[in-house]
Amino acid sequence: MFKGRKTEMVLLVILQLIVAATAANVTYDHRALVIDGKRKILISGSIHYPRSTPEMWPELIQKSKDGGLDVIETYVFWSGHEPEKTKYNFEGRYDLVKFVKLVAKAGLYVHLRIGPYVCAEWNYGGFPVWLHFVPGIKFRTDNEPFKEEMQKFTTKIVDLMKQEKLYASQGGPIILSQIENEYGNIDSAYGAAAKSYIKWSASMALSLDTGVPWNMCQQADAPEPMINTCNGFYCDQFTPNSKNKPKMWTENWSGWFLGFGDPSPYRPVEDLAFAVARFYQRGGTFQNYYMYHGGTNFDRTSGGPLISTSYDYDAPIDEYGLVRQPKWGHLRELHKAIKLCEDALIATDPTITSLGSDLEAAVYKTESGSCAAFLANIGTKSDATVTFNGKSYTLPAWSVSILPDCKNVAFNTAKINSATESTTFAHQALKPDGGSSAEFGSQWSYIKEPIGISKSDAFLKPGLLEQLDTTADKSDYLWYSLSMDIKGDETFLDEGSKAVLHIESLGQVVYAFINGKLAGSGNGKQKISLDIPINLVPGKNTIDLLSVTVGLANYGAFFDLVGAGITGPVTLKSSKSGSSIDLSSQKWTYQVGLKGEDTGLATGDSSEWVSKSPLPTKQPLIWYKTTFDSPSGSEPVAIDFTGTGKGIAWVNGQSIGRYWPTSIARNDGCVDSCDYRGAYRANKCLKNCGKPSQTLYHVPRSWLKPSGNTLVLLEEMGGDPTQISFATKQTGQSLCLTVSQAHLPPVDTWTSDSKISNRTKTYPVLSLRCPVSSQVISSIKFASFGTPKGSCGSFSKGRCSSSRSLSIVRKACVGLRSCNVEVSTRVFGDPCRGVVKSLAVEASCS
Ligand code: GAL
Repeated sequence: MFKGRKTEMVLLVILQLIVAATAANVTYDHRALVIDGKRKILISGSIHYPRSTPEMWPELIQKSKDGGLDVIETYVFWSGHEPEKTKYNFEGRYDLVKFVKLVAKAGLYVHLRIGPYVCAEWNYGGFPVWLHFVPGIKFRTDNEPFKEEMQKFTTKIVDLMKQEKLYASQGGPIILSQIENEYGNIDSAYGAAAKSYIKWSASMALSLDTGVPWNMCQQADAPEPMINTCNGFYCDQFTPNSKNKPKMWTENWSGWFLGFGDPSPYRPVEDLAFAVARFYQRGGTFQNYYMYHGGTNFDRTSGGPLISTSYDYDAPIDEYGLVRQPKWGHLRELHKAIKLCEDALIATDPTITSLGSDLEAAVYKTESGSCAAFLANIGTKSDATVTFNGKSYTLPAWSVSILPDCKNVAFNTAKINSATESTTFAHQALKPDGGSSAEFGSQWSYIKEPIGISKSDAFLKPGLLEQLDTTADKSDYLWYSLSMDIKGDETFLDEGSKAVLHIESLGQVVYAFINGKLAGSGNGKQKISLDIPINLVPGKNTIDLLSVTVGLANYGAFFDLVGAGITGPVTLKSSKSGSSIDLSSQKWTYQVGLKGEDTGLATGDSSEWVSKSPLPTKQPLIWYKTTFDSPSGSEPVAIDFTGTGKGIAWVNGQSIGRYWPTSIARNDGCVDSCDYRGAYRANKCLKNCGKPSQTLYHVPRSWLKPSGNTLVLLEEMGGDPTQISFATKQTGQSLCLTVSQAHLPPVDTWTSDSKISNRTKTYPVLSLRCPVSSQVISSIKFASFGTPKGSCGSFSKGRCSSSRSLSIVRKACVGLRSCNVEVSTRVFGDPCRGVVKSLAVEASCS
C-alpha cells in the first residue's frame, strides 16, 4: 500500500515536471510579448471557427502556418455557445476546444478574444438575444445584471480552457486573451459609468488568473496591466498607453466585409503589405490580419444591418478555404523578410530618420552588431531614389524595403513575385438524385406557407410592437395582421383611384399583403418608408405585413437598442380625396415566425410536400424541396441562387444561410483598377457595382453525401428554384506573373552581403506552382522576356522579346507541379541592351 503511494507520488512529480517543462511563461515588456524570457516578433491571423467547419479547420490552420503565421486569433462567440441561458453548446462548428487544440497541434499560438462582446459582423455583436430580456440589464456599462452575465460567461470560457490545459502557462497554445472589444470607440456615449465598467472588466478578467497577458483593443485608457492595442487599416502611428507595453495591432483589416446591396470591397496586397511593413518599421512587434480566413455566416449568424452570408473579406485565404493569390504568397514573402530581422527588432527600439520628404528610414542596431533597416517611401505619386549608409536604393511610391542586414534589400512591399491565380466557378445543373437534369423541374416539391396568421400562438395587441422584443430573434419573421371593414361608400373605394398604404419600418425587409395578395415590398438598412397603392373591397379586408430581419445590429453605442420591425405610422390614404386613417394604434394580431419553421420543414422530412406539377413559381412564401447528387470531385461547392428571390436555405438540415441574389449592389463607387498607392478606406476599392451582391453560397463538402442530399428553400419573395445550379470552385486554369529584372530574388535566397560574391549573385526568379497537389503545369499560354504588355489573359509581346522565351519556360515548367525560372539575360540572352526587361508568363494547370 505504502509502496503504491510512493510510486504514485513519483509519477505525480514526473508529471508536474513534464508540465513545467512544456508550460511557457508569457509576459511582456515595452518591446514585445515575451515567451520564456525571449521577446517575440509575432504574425497573427484571424480565423473564426464557426465561419467554417471542423473538417475545414486543419487545412485552414496549415495554410496559415505555411503563409508564415505564428498565431491564430479568434473571437469567442457567446450567442453560439449559450443560445439559451445556461444551456451551453460546444459542439460542431462551436467546438472551441477542438479548434484551439488543432492550432496547438500545428505548432501555432492562439490569441483568444473572449469579448464577450465581439462586434465581428455577427448577429447582435455576439451577444445571445436572451440577454436583452434579463430584468434591469444595460449592455456594456457599469450595470450589475450585465456584469454578472458577462463574468459568468467569461469565467465559463476561461475555466474550460484551463480544464483542457490550453493556456500557455499550462503548456497550451493560448498566449494572450482579450476582454471587451473596441469599447474606447464608443465609450463616451456611456458617460461616467464607462470608466468604472472598463476598470471592472479589467479586474474581472485578471481575477480569472489565466497566467497569460490580457489585451483591450482600441482602449486608450486600458488599466494596468492590460495591453491596449490598435485596430485599423494602418497602425504605425499608434503608441500604447504605457512605456512598459508593447506596440500591438489586433486588427489589420485585410479587406472589408460585404453587405447585401453593397459592391464588393477588396484591398490590394501592395497596400496591405505596406501597412504591415510600416508597423514593424515603427516599432510594432505583433500584428494580426483581420481576417486571414473570413469564411461564411451560416444560418442566421450574420450581423446587421444587412450583412451578407459570405464573409470572404478579400482575405489571404478565401471563403472556400483556397489561398487567394497573389495576396497569400506576397504576404508570405513579407513575413519571411520580417523574420530575417527578428534578432535586431527585438533587441532595440528603432532609430527613425528622414531621408527626404515622405522618405523615412528606421534602423534597429544592436550592441552585438546585428542591424536591420526599413526604408519607406510614403509618398503616393513618385518613386524615389534615396541614399542610405552611402548606398543608393530605389523606393517605389507607397512602399517599404526591408534590409535585414541594413545593406541588402530582401523585400519590397510593392514588388510582387507571387503569381495571380484565377479562380472560376464551373456551373452544373443540380442533377436530381438518380435522374437526369432534363427531369429536373419535376423533381421539386413544395409547400405553401400561409399568408398571414396561421399559428395557434398568435396574439392580439393594440399598437405596433418592436420586432426584437416580440420575436426574441427566434425567427427572422414577424407577421403584423389587421382585418378591417370598408363600407361601400368609403373614400378608399373610389372608382379609378387606389388607396395608398403607407408603412414605416426600421427594417430590414417588409412585405405587404392585401387580402392575401402581395401588394408591395421594400427593404433598407435603417428606415423603410413605403407608399403602396392597393385595391380594397367593400366589406372585410385583411392587411398582413411581414417584417423580416436580416441580421441584428452589431456595432455602435447602444446597438442592442436599435430595434427592428414596423414602427409606424401605418396609414391608409385615399389618393383621390387625400383623407387618411392611422392604423398604427389598432389591435394588430401578431405571429412570431412562420408555420413551416415550427413544423420543421427545413429538414425536408415532412409528409406534406406536394410534388404535383406545375410547380408554383414566382409567388411569395413557398417552401421548396429537392434531392440531388453531390457534384463530383473535391473542389469547394457553392449553390448559385440566381433565379430565386430571397430566403433561407438548408442542405441536409444544415442552414447554409440567407440567400438574396436579387439584392443588387449600388451602382456607385466602383473603379476599374484601384491604385494601391495612398491611404486605403473601406470604400476605396470596390467591384461588382450594379450586380447582385451575392449569388453564390458555400455548401461545405462535409455536409454532402454522394447522393440523396436534400435541399430545402424558404422562398419569401418569389422565384424559380429550377434555375438553381451548382458551382464548383476551380483553381489553376490560369497562373499569371510578371517579374522584372528590377524585382528582388526570392526572400529565401537572401544572404547578407558579406557572403555575396559574383558567383553567388542571386537574380529575380519567376516561380509558378499549381494550387492543387494533383495538378501539373500543362501548358504555357504566353511567355516573353523583354518588354511584354498587358495583364493576365491579355499579355502580348512588346517591341523587345527574347525569341527563346516560350521554349525556355516550357522546358522548365511543363509537366511539373512547380517551377522556377531565373529572370536574367544569362538565361534568355539579351533581346534589347540597356533596357530593364521583364518576364511575363501565363500558364495553366490541369
Ligand atoms: C472592428 C471590430 C471587428 C469587426 C471589424 C470590421 O471595429 O472590432 O469585430 O467588426 O471592425 O470588420
